Amino acid sequence: MSQNLENLKIVFIGGGNMGQALVGGLLSSDWIANNISIIDSDPAMSAKLAKQFMQCNVFTQTEAVLTLADIVVLAVKPQTMRTACEQIAAQCQASRPLIISIAAGIQISDIDGWLGGELPIVRCMPNTPALVQSGTTGLFANSEASLQQREFAQNILNSVGSTLWLEQEAMLDVVTAISGSGPAYFFYVIEAMLEAGQSLGLSAAQARQLTIDTAAGAAKLIQKSGKTPQELRRAVTSKGGTTEAAIKALKQGGMKNLFHTAITIAAQKAKQLARTNALTNSDEANSEKAE
Ligand SMILES: NC(=O)c1ccc[n+]([C@@H]2O[C@H](COP(=O)([O-])OP(=O)(O)OC[C@H]3O[C@@H](n4cnc5c(N)ncnc54)[C@H](OP(=O)(O)O)[C@@H]3O)[C@@H](O)[C@H]2O)c1
Repeated sequence: MSQNLENLKIVFIGGGNMGQALVGGLLSSDWIANNISIIDSDPAMSAKLAKQFMQCNVFTQTEAVLTLADIVVLAVKPQTMRTACEQIAAQCQASRPLIISIAAGIQISDIDGWLGGELPIVRCMPNTPALVQSGTTGLFANSEASLQQREFAQNILNSVGSTLWLEQEAMLDVVTAISGSGPAYFFYVIEAMLEAGQSLGLSAAQARQLTIDTAAGAAKLIQKSGKTPQELRRAVTSKGGTTEAAIKALKQGGMKNLFHTAITIAAQKAKQLARTNALTNSDEANSEKAE
């Protein structure tokens, strides 16, 4: 593998939402566009990608470019992952690139098996704020991945936000439940606050501005201050005041327990989906072979 990040040749398999977010992130962090290739089997998507990323190389099917790749990013839906891997297995075995998978719930052992085995693989769980370069990603590497390859993977994911290494692959289920699904929890809280604001007389636009700016401001404050959420909450909770009354109502409603239950259920679901994905992929591959 080439030593310098800027010389690396990277190929994306799948140029959907997440693939585009990562290509955009790499371009804005000064990757050489000509070193980036995207293979997307959907012709309409490929045409869109060719316009959006004019200086990158866009293809609709597996190309020779794969044999020159230092890094291959697997960015297709989990249910099509086995087929996608099997289509590129021969080239990957020839060039032995670093494989980065962003697919939810597909285990490294499955990806490695479908690609022919013994490849360096980093499995990641990004989240949708990656679309605006504010994501956060949990990463886990197999033992074939060198220190330098781990750094490359981290650099790539850092182009769309922050990153965090995990010591066990199973912890990616918890990452999925916290940060993968997490944006939806905050959107739900925002939704509830918007509805409450409107029911008390604010216009939709007023409620939106106040709620979203408060959410963004609170996130910035906790990031910049380094304080705990309890410290910051107490700082705005004066005795006998409005915040105290509101927090009391949230406590009585069991908000913390509710979040604990919801996140535990999400982590269990992530684990269960990983098993289902493995089965679905093997069913699809079997039926393709039978055709
Ligand atoms: N969106 C999220 O919040 C999020 C967060 C974390 C992780 N992820 C993971 O990111 C991955 C990509 O998600 P996405 O939302 O970007 O998916 P997406 O929008 O469906 O993009 C995937 C693209 O790859 C194409 N494709 C399918 N099979 C292919 C193949 N064999 N070779 C080349 N291209 C192929 C698809 O074409 P067709 O549409 O014709 O199949 C589609 O255009 C998923 O595995 C997901 O689990 C997503």
